[in-house]
Amino acid sequence: MEICPVGEEGYEEFVAFLDAGMRPEGASTQVADDFPVILGADNLAGMIGIRGDAGWIAGLAALTRTFTTTAGPVEVAGLGSVVTHPDHRGQGLSSRLQRAMVERLAAAGTPLAVLWTDQPEIYAGRGFQAAGWEFHLDLGPLASHGSWPPDAGYRPVDGAAAAADLAALYDRHPLRTRRLAGDHAALYGMPGTTIRALVRDGRIEAFACCGKGIDFPGYVAEWAGAAMDVLPLLGRVAAEGLATRALVPAGNERFLERAVAAGAGFAVVPSGLWAVLRPDRLQALCGPVDPGRERDATAWLGEVVAEGEVRPGRLQVAVWGLDSV
Ligand SMILES: CC(C)(COP(=O)(O)OP(=O)(O)OC[C@H]1O[C@@H](n2cnc3c(N)ncnc32)[C@H](O)[C@@H]1OP(=O)(O)O)[C@@H](O)C(=O)NCCC(=O)NCCS
Repeated sequence: MEICPVGEEGYEEFVAFLDAGMRPEGASTQVADDFPVILGADNLAGMIGIRGDAGWIAGLAALTRTFTTTAGPVEVAGLGSVVTHPDHRGQGLSSRLQRAMVERLAAAGTPLAVLWTDQPEIYAGRGFQAAGWEFHLDLGPLASHGSWPPDAGYRPVDGAAAAADLAALYDRHPLRTRRLAGDHAALYGMPGTTIRALVRDGRIEAFACCGKGIDFPGYVAEWAGAAMDVLPLLGRVAAEGLATRALVPAGNERFLERAVAAGAGFAVVPSGLWAVLRPDRLQALCGPVDPGRERDATAWLGEVVAEGEVRPGRLQVAVWGLDSV
């Protein structure tokens, strides 16, 4: 059975196939709601699958975007929506799709790929390993002790309608995804995400995106604004019962320090499973790593070491939760 592109004519059936495979029990949101950019019709070129007699039997998607990193702009591909029909599992179909996608991305010059899973063994054979770091902030103490700025209001936000304002705040993060124009409304308009904002004079000055369909329950998956506004906002969404934790990607260590000073606890975890597809490209950006470690993602991106400390690599990349695929 051949690996084939999805194409416009196969698109709806492909997304329905992924939904059935990833949400066999049904759920309040569908996969295309929670992953609207990677599974959007604009990303058909990033979707591949294998067809059987009665339709799709295996599929996989990838979304490539430029990330601003400490070594400058770097292309990163996120891999997701990895599904094989239950009748065809254990036959190597997903391995074939993963390999084909990784080869295609490497040929296109994409240096890094990332994915998220609780089953790393499915991807380890293609070089994916835990690397990088991010912080998971415990919002409980902020909810009970926070004080709200007297000159600011607190209100719900319609993410799709306010996408341009939210994107402008998000773009102040030094390490981020360079989202394309259509990405903003799709990401901030996800039906499973609840957004709250701190406003002054009618202007959104900080926001917090709570949840991401069933993908990020209880988490503030993205926030932006000045720390003096974001911290009370995180406390407020926690007090409202919208989230118990917040994602703090690498590069926001000063913000983390302020949150900890305000009483919040945190854990540090790898930022994803990463594969180095084009070490030559990374080397051109930030110099060589130790010989023999060119394909070791921890050499480039750093890692969380056993004591919960981080060991930096050659560059830092931050992936916010709304961009997880
Ligand atoms: C995960 C899934 C896509 C695997 O598809 P598959 O076609 O059966 O996978 P393959 O036979 O190609 O195996 C892929 C790799 O995963 C490993 N693997 C597959 N199922 C496994 C399992 N249940 N436990 C441990 N390893 C497993 C295989 O050994 C293989 O490793 P290798 O290529 O390095 O030798 C399939 O089980 C599925 O659709 N599950 C439901 C959706 C899902 O959970 N997707 C993953 C989201 S992160």
